[in-house]
Amino acid sequence: MALWGGRFAQGPEESVFALSRSVHFDWRLAPYDLRSSKAHLAILKKSGLIAPKDAEAIAQALNELSTEVASGKFVAIDSDEDVHSALERGLTSKLGAVGGALRAGRSRNDQVTTDLRLFSIDHMLEIARLITALQVALLEKATEYVNDPAPGFTHIQHAQPVSFGHELAKHAHAFARDLDRINDWLSRTSVSSLGAGALAGSSLALEPAFTAKNLGFTATFANSIDAVSDRDYVAEALFVCAMIGNHLSRIGEEWTLWSSQEFAWAKVADAYSTGSSIMPQKKNPDMAELARGKSGRLVGNLMSVLTMLKGLPFAYNRDLQEDKEPLFDSIDTLMLVLPAVTGMIATTDFDRDKMALAAPTGFSLATEIADYLAKKSVPFADAHDAAGKCVAMCDTSGRQLHQLTDAEFLQVHPQLDGGVRDVLTVHGAINSRTTSGGTAPILVAAQIKDALAANTKTEKEIASKRAAFSEMMSA
Ligand code: ARG
Repeated sequence: MALWGGRFAQGPEESVFALSRSVHFDWRLAPYDLRSSKAHLAILKKSGLIAPKDAEAIAQALNELSTEVASGKFVAIDSDEDVHSALERGLTSKLGAVGGALRAGRSRNDQVTTDLRLFSIDHMLEIARLITALQVALLEKATEYVNDPAPGFTHIQHAQPVSFGHELAKHAHAFARDLDRINDWLSRTSVSSLGAGALAGSSLALEPAFTAKNLGFTATFANSIDAVSDRDYVAEALFVCAMIGNHLSRIGEEWTLWSSQEFAWAKVADAYSTGSSIMPQKKNPDMAELARGKSGRLVGNLMSVLTMLKGLPFAYNRDLQEDKEPLFDSIDTLMLVLPAVTGMIATTDFDRDKMALAAPTGFSLATEIADYLAKKSVPFADAHDAAGKCVAMCDTSGRQLHQLTDAEFLQVHPQLDGGVRDVLTVHGAINSRTTSGGTAPILVAAQIKDALAANTKTEKEIASKRAAFSEMMSA
């Protein structure tokens, strides 16, 4: 059903309709459109713009339609342009001309962005919940390996030994920032646009603040032209999704690397691995690779919306219809990836002995020699140089640092005595890293405990926001 046409002598060409049509992707806004229609009806009724008897009939039809949309009894058809026109068709088929009464004071311009805000809030809260579950998997796995040393890397070269629990827990901290971002985003997204009309507001006695409250928004638009044009919240949500994708891709990279034959640190559970159609022996970490690979489309979706928005004149332009598919795609992608990665992490076992054995290799204890001298007030540049010389001696003679003789140590630096061997152990090196946030296991355990407490708090906040949102939706 067309929502316009009075001034046209001809209907749209087939190709025009085909290009305009969005109902095949925006249909998923239907529950939010129906709910915002209820809010709009409430203000029309309150202001006496719709007779109580008609309001009653529309309210009932909206409820019926909600049930029919949920059950799949009412669906969009080929001739529907978008979700708004499809639902108005549903209303008028139930009510006749009265079904069109809801259009008073409302345009698809303020309607579509209100719906999309509701959709985004609903789904970003779900993503937040999935992230807290991922954090729990990471932190619980980290707890298992707090006391297990492993090589720590820079440039994928052995750098300094670390607690493997420290290594695993680091990811949870990155996701905590994503949760923070979602919370922050929420405050800018929870703004109602309904009442802005096409762009100029309305001559009818609408109360945008009343409608905003009805829909659970925390604020109302201040400028109607901005309200119908603003898609910052879409771009921001896409950035948050891209960042989450980026963080997931780092997990993907590590799991792929760590489960390779060369590392053989990680044993990914069969349920989270896939096989090869030709090589019967293969067990591939495809979940990790997809976590890494999907980050591409998440960045792409952000780019696509930012590019569409750039230089766009105010107020509504049809270009804005291009905001939805990238957003839906990013959200759907994360809803697929997050549970799979969470399960993969929770069920991976690591080879403690192999990691411990690798921890001191590659002269990863060289910094201990430099620190030993620095503690004796040797300027760090000299200390660094001396430690470097020790590495060179070992490298040419095929020895480890602790295997240098007392005489060799003294020859490198007059203050470098045999006592240095006491710090040339993996456990010594790890245990001595006690600056806050450092890798000493006692600190790592505390970091994990704090992160779990923060996670529980955030989990509760998200749950209460989700409960409030679904209560609003069913009102
Ligand atoms: N399907 C449109 C969109 O997604 C709805 C708004 C149409 N408004 C208009 N003035 N043509 O943006």
